[in-house]
Amino acid sequence: MRKPDGTMPLLAPMSQVAGRMAAEIGASLLRHPGPGRGKLMGGVAGVPPGRAVIIGSGTVATAAARVLMGLDARVTVMSRDLARLAYLQEHFGGRIATRVSNPQAVAEEVNGADLAILSVLVPGAAAPHVLSREMVRSMGPGAVIVDVSIDQGGAAETSRPTSHSDPIYVEEGVVHYCVTNMPGAVPQTSTQALTSATLPYIEALADFGIEDAMRRDRALAESLSTHAGRLIRGPVADVFGMQAAPNPFL
Ligand SMILES: NC(=O)c1ccc[n+]([C@@H]2O[C@H](COP(=O)([O-])OP(=O)(O)OC[C@H]3O[C@@H](n4cnc5c(N)ncnc54)[C@H](O)[C@@H]3O)[C@@H](O)[C@H]2O)c1
Repeated sequence: MRKPDGTMPLLAPMSQVAGRMAAEIGASLLRHPGPGRGKLMGGVAGVPPGRAVIIGSGTVATAAARVLMGLDARVTVMSRDLARLAYLQEHFGGRIATRVSNPQAVAEEVNGADLAILSVLVPGAAAPHVLSREMVRSMGPGAVIVDVSIDQGGAAETSRPTSHSDPIYVEEGVVHYCVTNMPGAVPQTSTQALTSATLPYIEALADFGIEDAMRRDRALAESLSTHAGRLIRGPVADVFGMQAAPNPFL
């Protein structure tokens, strides 16, 4: 579901959960035992902190940056959205670095980085591969990638989906965490967060009935996938090689 201003009210709570988890998991995967490089994200007096690069500057990125900042990591957030980078810089009081992303800038930032969190989203399309195999290799042995975008196909050339029961693998020497449903690990928090976001829409459906609720809220109508036994959503039909019927509420 997408509102006219482009925000996705039902994805946002899950992205907040996944962003916070990405930072926590990334920091813990750097530790031993395990294939991580054995580094404390925040460093200590006399030892510099770890370097984290977040690609994407949306809900996941903001939540991840907040947690990493709390750990005293050196954080760089990269995306193509300059206005959003300006907002983040302001929001975090200059305690994170921001950089406009293009392949060369990404290559420079991830070279030798300890942690990369990938959180790009192109609505309606597969995630772009912002990290090539060479860029992954350049991070060095024992570095960590948390590819949150894996539910949209993944944002590194080396990413493939994993599960909570077998969450990581090592490729090009770099630990990859690519769990497609990260919020599933914290169902108490995720259920409360998701139902808080969905409840107003459920109330609208209950109060006005399906047809009126759809006519009152175009975003709700656009998000409808099936009606009266027919598939009415184009992108879903495309995935399954089917034909979508017209949406009667648009
Ligand atoms: N694995 C999971 O469990 C899980 C959970 C929640 C969300 N997600 C996924 O995380 C991703 C991010 O979600 P979000 O809510 O933060 O999305 P969002 O729309 O808030 O942010 C996406 C960001 O990607 C940036 N972007 C797009 N193309 C880019 C490119 N080529 N280079 C650099 N930046 C680019 C945009 O500027 C934006 O800042 C989505 O793919 C979402 O499906 C996964």
